[in-house]
Amino acid sequence: MTRIGFAALVAMASSAGSAVAQDAMSIGQFEFANSCVQCHGTAGKGDGPLVSFLTGSMPDITQLQKSNGGVFPVTRVFNTIDGSARIGAHGTSEMPAWGQRYRADAAEWLSYQGAPGEAEALAQLRVLALVEYVASLQEQ
Ligand code: HEC
Repeated sequence: MTRIGFAALVAMASSAGSAVAQDAMSIGQFEFANSCVQCHGTAGKGDGPLVSFLTGSMPDITQLQKSNGGVFPVTRVFNTIDGSARIGAHGTSEMPAWGQRYRADAAEWLSYQGAPGEAEALAQLRVLALVEYVASLQEQ
């Protein structure tokens, strides 16, 4: 994803107190409950029921900001969820890549609406909603 694309989405999703920001949060919470708690646990502590089936260690994703000098690592988290962080050197991850799945969903939905070009933006918005939700789980 381009920097410009991400900046535009952040601007859209964070426009002060707007309906967009509220929707993005509730979408993030919904997506997290559906797709992430199985591994990460409801609070993000890494204690979901699927963990016993994974071979690697499960991170506590409430500590990402703390362990990054108090700054939430937005881009890294976005890329982890999207899956783009694993292109190349990180190819062995057990964390599923959601970007591709969301892009396929969006393309299918949009093909009925006659606007297929927007699939990328929709998929990114869905990942961004998750990034915001993960940010809200951070412990100080
Ligand atoms: C099948 C289990 C599984 C599911 C489902 C899963 N994850 Fe993960 N996740 C992992 C594992 C394992 C890691 C550790 C790093 C790795 O293997 O990539 C991880 C790492 C992460 C990280 C840490 C990234 C960093 O920078 O350290 C974040 C954030 C994250 N996942 C978010 C999510 C979100 C959001 C969802 C739901 C859309 C999700 N995960 C679904 C297994 C999972």
